[in-house]
Amino acid sequence: MEKRFFVKHTLLLVVGLLLSNQLSAQNQLLKPEIEAKVDSVLSLMTLAEKVGQLNQHNGAWEFTGPVPEGDYQQERFELLKNGGVGSMLNVTGAEATRAAQEIVMEHSRLKIPLIFGYDVIHGYKTMFPIPLAEAASWDLAAIEKSARISAIEASAAGINWTFAPMMDLSRDPRWGRGMEGAGEDPYLSALVSVARVKGFQTNDLSTYNSIAATAKHLAAYGFAEAGKDYNTTEISNNTLLNMVLPPFKAVNDAGVASMMNSFNDMWAIPTTASHYLQRELLKDDWGFNGIILSDWGSIREMIPHGYSEDLEMAAKQAILAGNDIDMESEAYQRHLVALVEAGEVPISVVDEAVSRMLRMKFLLGVFDDPYRYSNEKREKELTYTKEHRMAARDVAKKSIVLLKNESNLLPLNPTKKATIAVIGKLANDKDTPIGSWRGRAEANSAVSLLEGIKAAVGKNVTVNYAPGYVLAVGDRTFIHELQFGDDDGSGFDEAISIAKSADYVIMALGEEGFQTGEGRSQVDVSLKGRQVELMNKILAVNKNTAIVLMNGRAIVEPELYDNPKAVVEAWHLGTEAGHAIGDVLFGRYNPAAKMPMTIPRHAGQIPIYYNHKNTGRPSTGPNDAGLVFWSHFTDESNDPRFPFGFGLSYTTFTYSDMKLSAASMGMDDEVTLSVKLTNSGKMDGEEVVQFYIKDHFGSTIRPVKELKGFQKVMLKAGESKTISFKINAETLAFYGADHTFKAEKGAFTFMVGTNSDEVQELPFMLNEK
Ligand code: NOJ
Repeated sequence: MEKRFFVKHTLLLVVGLLLSNQLSAQNQLLKPEIEAKVDSVLSLMTLAEKVGQLNQHNGAWEFTGPVPEGDYQQERFELLKNGGVGSMLNVTGAEATRAAQEIVMEHSRLKIPLIFGYDVIHGYKTMFPIPLAEAASWDLAAIEKSARISAIEASAAGINWTFAPMMDLSRDPRWGRGMEGAGEDPYLSALVSVARVKGFQTNDLSTYNSIAATAKHLAAYGFAEAGKDYNTTEISNNTLLNMVLPPFKAVNDAGVASMMNSFNDMWAIPTTASHYLQRELLKDDWGFNGIILSDWGSIREMIPHGYSEDLEMAAKQAILAGNDIDMESEAYQRHLVALVEAGEVPISVVDEAVSRMLRMKFLLGVFDDPYRYSNEKREKELTYTKEHRMAARDVAKKSIVLLKNESNLLPLNPTKKATIAVIGKLANDKDTPIGSWRGRAEANSAVSLLEGIKAAVGKNVTVNYAPGYVLAVGDRTFIHELQFGDDDGSGFDEAISIAKSADYVIMALGEEGFQTGEGRSQVDVSLKGRQVELMNKILAVNKNTAIVLMNGRAIVEPELYDNPKAVVEAWHLGTEAGHAIGDVLFGRYNPAAKMPMTIPRHAGQIPIYYNHKNTGRPSTGPNDAGLVFWSHFTDESNDPRFPFGFGLSYTTFTYSDMKLSAASMGMDDEVTLSVKLTNSGKMDGEEVVQFYIKDHFGSTIRPVKELKGFQKVMLKAGESKTISFKINAETLAFYGADHTFKAEKGAFTFMVGTNSDEVQELPFMLNEK
């Protein structure tokens, strides 16, 4: 008895230690020697200098040239000289960051170095797939590597802080910013976001090529009503705790160095002023020791929100709520000194925020050498290298989802004598694949689909090209609205004619590179212009047509998925897009990616997501026919067009022998779920084995399915392997009616399968003991 007691308690101790270790990555930001330095710098600072550290300015002029004329520029220059600016954004390149740093180091009293933030979202110069696409790879090592390379390039260019990863869940393809996240699922998003944070930060922020990451946007920004960017949100506490926050908690526990709040309001309070999110949750409950920064101008925007009477009030509300850094609102710059002097804001609140900024600067090593990141030599040698481009190609091919492949149209043979017609303006577009949020990528620098196809095929294959349709006309930039001009169809005949005489057609359809991203919401998420009309004309003359879809959101377009034999979801894949798509189309790589977001059948189903609640009147199956009183649409099915987790391979996989080591367990136990996976096709390939649970009954209602594990497994043709998942109470835990995270006893169903819809099931029981 005694021995068992001892073993159990030792185990608890070990588990406890493991847990506290897991939670301690935030504590690793607190190094005693650094904290002492932070205190000593703080003790030297005037109030104005303290406020300066909290002020973040945009790079308003080219630092390598003279300061432009004008009061605004002069005021900014003076502030910079006098220590009135603590960090900057959008100043990039070794030369420019060095020049800006010199201003501070040569003129300011305390010579506290600047740090430079930038949106390094899916690459700095070598562009990787947009984040939504990368998430489709379910390949955490590849995702981490993509962030690592982005950090290597950015850090050599003077950047020491990226405003990524974005981990806002998105259930609504109308929201253009879904491209920047990891899709609709909190579990996948958490793992992908942690991989990104690790890639950016490594486990040592003081390394010259690691950069601080930013978890954004806290919180619920992806729940913008109607998918309209910056819009208000209506979100329950239950959804916040169980869906929105887990990815933030995961990166918090992994030691993320900063978090950004969001433009939206939540529970009718702008998140920038949310005491609950910033102070209670992050700083107090989660022990977050990094920086909380506002989004661009989000302190000022509390005035039009109707939460602040003026900028002074906004400054006070933001700092008291826990927002440390003011990005481009000039609220702290203009009002914080007076607010402290008037006793409206305690100096301790300012000191706390400043300490966080100083801590970050010490951690990044810029106090030791303010110019260590601005390294012209490294910038030249380490940017856009062959090695980086090869890595980008690798991640890109891993991000391509095979949505449809009837009669095994794909892969095409690259050596057999044939004529291939390549059709679509997007096929010959070297800019679109770079996508939105493209860092410092050169415009028109991607490998186009047409180039990729030509590079993939041998000399027996003739490739003919016609653009066919017209997409956006005029400016294609980050800040301009795209204009979709009229397509008079004058390109149709040429396209139809080359399709007719070809053995195969590869047709590119989709969205412009800047059709998604910030401020790019659409009510209509079908394909713009006359793309589908031309597709149908092409299909009428050549059935052997494979569609390559290039896009940044889930596209709702029934005919696109119904009519052609093959559809390849190729997103905006970055610098090496064309090569990566070529690898998949011609079978050099067997696709294995899975959709991180549901593709609806109809836009009217939005928001649509796999982990929804059951309702009191769910479908009861075929008997529903003809009866109206259940939760459905009378004119469309409830099913998505493609479920979350969906993606085909050139081979087939079969699942068998699903087993549980025990059909029930107590709260302190663990069981193993196993399943035999067989590559039952003719080609070697990878499968993402997905594990879902359903908790049948709880103190709050649980979703019909929740992803709780996955493994990406490589199997040779004919090979089998047993895949297992360990399950304990934590796997089954959630935030219930009392808002604490714990498992509740009762019945569960465990599911394993190839996507969220095609699963095998086993019943399970969780007991108290
Ligand atoms: C606004 C965006 O919402 C945010 O994500 C980004 O980091 C900032 N602008 C800075 O560019």
